Amino acid sequence: MAATKAFIAVLALSALTAVSAQTVSVYNGTYSATTPNNALFTGPITPDPCTIGPSYWCLSDANMRRCQVYNVTVGVCGYSSGKCNSSSVQDFCAQNPTALRFNGGLTNAPPGKFGYYALALYWAPTSCSANSTAGGGFCSSYTLAGTQGSQNLVLHGLWTDYGSLYTTEPAAPAYNGSYQGWNQYCSATGPGRIDYSRCHVNGGLCPWANATAANFTQSNYEQCMRANGVTQCQVEEATVSALQADMARYAPGFLGADRTFLDHEFFKHASCVGGYLTDNKTAFFETAIGITKQLTANGSWADVNVHQKRGTAVDTTAFVNSMNNTAIPQCDRNCQLSEVWYCYGRDAAGFPTELITCPIGTLGSNNCKSCPQILIPDYSAGTVRRIVSSRKLL
Ligand SMILES: *[C@@H]1O[C@H](CO)[C@@H](O)[C@H](O)[C@H]1NC(C)=O
Ligand SMILES: *[C@@H]1O[C@H](CO)[C@@H](O)[C@H](O)[C@H]1NC(C)=O
Ligand SMILES: *[C@@H]1O[C@H](CO)[C@@H](O)[C@H](O)[C@H]1NC(C)=O
Ligand SMILES: *[C@@H]1O[C@H](CO)[C@@H](O)[C@H](O)[C@H]1NC(C)=O
Ligand SMILES: *[C@@H]1O[C@H](CO)[C@@H](O)[C@H](O)[C@H]1NC(C)=O
Ligand SMILES: *[C@@H]1O[C@H](CO)[C@@H](O)[C@H](O)[C@H]1NC(C)=O
Ligand SMILES: *[C@@H]1O[C@H](CO)[C@@H](O)[C@H](O)[C@H]1NC(C)=O
Ligand SMILES: *[C@@H]1O[C@H](CO)[C@@H](O)[C@H](O)[C@H]1NC(C)=O
Ligand SMILES: *[C@@H]1O[C@H](CO)[C@@H](O)[C@H](O)[C@H]1NC(C)=O
Ligand SMILES: *[C@@H]1O[C@H](CO)[C@@H](O)[C@H](O)[C@H]1NC(C)=O
Repeated sequence: MAATKAFIAVLALSALTAVSAQTVSVYNGTYSATTPNNALFTGPITPDPCTIGPSYWCLSDANMRRCQVYNVTVGVCGYSSGKCNSSSVQDFCAQNPTALRFNGGLTNAPPGKFGYYALALYWAPTSCSANSTAGGGFCSSYTLAGTQGSQNLVLHGLWTDYGSLYTTEPAAPAYNGSYQGWNQYCSATGPGRIDYSRCHVNGGLCPWANATAANFTQSNYEQCMRANGVTQCQVEEATVSALQADMARYAPGFLGADRTFLDHEFFKHASCVGGYLTDNKTAFFETAIGITKQLTANGSWADVNVHQKRGTAVDTTAFVNSMNNTAIPQCDRNCQLSEVWYCYGRDAAGFPTELITCPIGTLGSNNCKSCPQILIPDYSAGTVRRIVSSRKLL
């Protein structure tokens, strides 16, 4: 019921002529006395240290208990490369100022404790070839030349992020931060809960004999699990079969030969939503696709500024300004548009709400800043210089 309501609300939002910011705050949380380890606290507390990120988590023993991270082992890495070091949160926090500069994913952090969503859409021609489905999980027969998937921004993922609206942070006033990292491969405690942290490269479910620990990436791990029939970290086909037509149009990478893209997005990110959208994989992907559909509809910001501008170079400042701080672009090293990351609010149950003004640190993660112009490549030869880059799944 709740999912249906959220989904309808998403679809009911009218197509925007530009990206419009809502005046909603980043979720600041309330706490139930029945939640484990919360006995010391009576909420609500603003700002909520559990949703803002690691620099707050490292304030004190009390905050760690409140955020349910005391004695939790975290994998200190965010990206998909390399096996990650793991340590206890206590040890991690003792590493200041390292912890204050942390800008990655906290593995095995609690689900549900996050500030806002990043909805990542990607631009397939930057990662895929006109006539090839090679190029990692982003490419499929639905991103080939002539497809809608090659001409519109399409879904990469709906990610839980820590974030603060504040320009200065009490724990680290000199540090402007980024978006304070994110939780990943989360595992709630309690009956019937699955340990999703084992889907992280440190999880030990599928150690390939031919790969050294130092050279065994998250991607190797996911492919190893697929190849060896380890299903614990796979999205069951039946849960997404009803979404295939929508995926072909709005999330074409999920239908590629490399099905680990779908697995990766769910177990790394959806595991951290907590509640209904983690328990119901169909609902999670349906929700993310629903937002993508709305954000890329005719007349939307993405339609006007990306789809209709494909094959051209756009002025970076004008492009960023048109987003009204509700999204940031990502570029590859050739100043080609690779992704657009929208900031989305969340409600208390974890459902995405609407576009928000991005937390201050997030805006600094626009990595197109040094590009005077952003190229929006298409597959027609000669329009812009296009070098297909190899990309990692985030
Ligand atoms: C975005 O910001 C510009 C400049 O402030 C404003 O003119 C425009 O109406 C805004 N667009 C939306 C959809 O809020
Ligand atoms: C936190 O939530 C309270 C109650 O909903 C609200 O009044 C307050 O403005 C919020 N603060 C922030 C920073 O979001
Ligand atoms: C953390 O682990 C240590 C060592 O096992 C134990 O003594 C301590 O009680 C634990 N603390 C909490 C809050 O669980
Ligand atoms: C992991 O630990 C080793 C040895 O302490 C260190 O050299 C390396 O930089 C660490 N890697 C990460 C990603 O923190
Ligand atoms: C793919 O297209 C490029 C030009 O766009 C061409 O050079 C190449 O031969 C094509 N490859 C195949 C396998 O058709
Ligand atoms: C943080 O941002 C402010 C304003 O842009 C700037 O003056 C300051 O130098 C920055 N601090 C750090 C540590 O980067
Ligand atoms: C390890 O072996 C598998 C199965 O033979 C192979 O598919 C895979 O590419 C190898 N991985 C690495 C990292 O060499
Ligand atoms: C890691 O694996 C890649 C590809 O399997 C290989 O080319 C490279 O030499 C390996 N590096 C190390 C340090 O083993
Ligand atoms: C899961 O979500 C799908 C899509 O919203 C819905 O049709 C289905 O009934 C849900 N399943 C459960 C068990 O709630
Ligand atoms: C969107 O615009 C395209 C091209 O103008 C048109 O073919 C398509 O039917 C429109 N879609 C909707 C849902 O209005």
